Amino acid sequence: MAGKRLGVGVIGAGRWANWAHLPGWVRDSRCDLVAVCDREIDRARAAAQEFGAPVVTADYRDLLGRDDIDIIDVVTRDSEHFEINVAAIEAGKHVLSEKPVAHDFRDVRRVAALAVAKGLKTKVGFTFRYSPAVRYLKHLIDSGSLGTPFIYNAYEQNSQWLNPATPLRSGERAGDRPLQVASLEGYGAPVIDLGHWFMGSDLTAVVGVLRNFVPERMIAETGTMARVNIDDGDIFIGEFASGAICSVQSSFVTVGNYPGIEVRVYGSEGAAIARLVEEFGICETLKVARPDDVEFKEVEVPQSYYPPGGSPRESWRTLYYANLTANFASEVLGEIDGNEGSFGDGLWVQEVVNAVEISHHERRWVSLPLEVTP
Ligand SMILES: NC(=O)c1ccc[n+]([C@@H]2O[C@H](COP(=O)([O-])OP(=O)(O)OC[C@H]3O[C@@H](n4cnc5c(N)ncnc54)[C@H](O)[C@@H]3O)[C@@H](O)[C@H]2O)c1
Repeated sequence: MAGKRLGVGVIGAGRWANWAHLPGWVRDSRCDLVAVCDREIDRARAAAQEFGAPVVTADYRDLLGRDDIDIIDVVTRDSEHFEINVAAIEAGKHVLSEKPVAHDFRDVRRVAALAVAKGLKTKVGFTFRYSPAVRYLKHLIDSGSLGTPFIYNAYEQNSQWLNPATPLRSGERAGDRPLQVASLEGYGAPVIDLGHWFMGSDLTAVVGVLRNFVPERMIAETGTMARVNIDDGDIFIGEFASGAICSVQSSFVTVGNYPGIEVRVYGSEGAAIARLVEEFGICETLKVARPDDVEFKEVEVPQSYYPPGGSPRESWRTLYYANLTANFASEVLGEIDGNEGSFGDGLWVQEVVNAVEISHHERRWVSLPLEVTP
């Protein structure tokens, strides 16, 4: 595919598309942004004008038959990914989907298998895999610099819904029904993915607890305060097949800034902490310690881990997405082997999320993989 350019169609032109996806595609000289679609056509028009896309539509189906589009990028809201993912893959397009690919891991399994059968590349918006600090940490693990990884600890925390007056789209979740998963799926998922990637092993069992801390919140759809029984904080521990263990904590009612990630790997010959929090003008740091050290020391992430013009002083949103979209373009063009952070990885993560939900509701350890009921 040497010299080929990639046509991209972006579906959903809301906040995240404008902050992260669209800037990523236009920063890559191998990609042409062909179309922007949003069922709120004014949003599609505004984004197409700002980022220079010639085609604007309110109906995503218009993009699926076009020969000048190779990649469909799905940035609609959570419950609106699955249908479009399936339709795009059936139409023979490579697909980047925001997480979750689908809410139920069985649906993720079906669409992941369909993509593999059709020889198509997929990618989930696991933003933090593409942080330069996280990618360098992965290199340290793979090169053996930290020795055998024993323990993975992860946090994804921010305070975006700590104030009950902050409007939250409740969808089907309003009321005092059994607790439903929210923070774990939206915020825990990316660090669950990082654990899988770093430790190079599957989780075989998890036990966890989900908790609602804010009893009533402002409902975006109605503008009134009401009960929404969702998980706004959670913790689980897990056992990997390799013998390693992990702890994972996520919450969107904990004090802290975006993106609010801290991941730690403790190995036989060293330990590392990547902290992805926008503070004091920088968005990430990486610290490493050796067995005889008393303190972790900051290490510099090589420039080759940054996109053109990128630095830790850039917004994490554009910095990480520039790496993500470039990585996907390289995979689709065949410039690099493999397909990392694919729907297959999304499936694994969704299964862990679903297992922690079962663990919480049944108050027990849950083994993985989950049994598939038809
Ligand atoms: N990976 C990350 O770090 C990260 C960060 C923020 C948001 N997200 C994800 O990005 C997605 C979008 O979030 P957002 O905050 O931009 O939401 P948003 O509501 O601002 O934007 C979604 C847009 O999709 C459009 N849309 C919905 N269904 C459509 C359809 N069938 N066809 C065409 N357009 C459609 C809506 O009109 C809206 O403009 C969510 O899934 C969210 O979880 C991911």
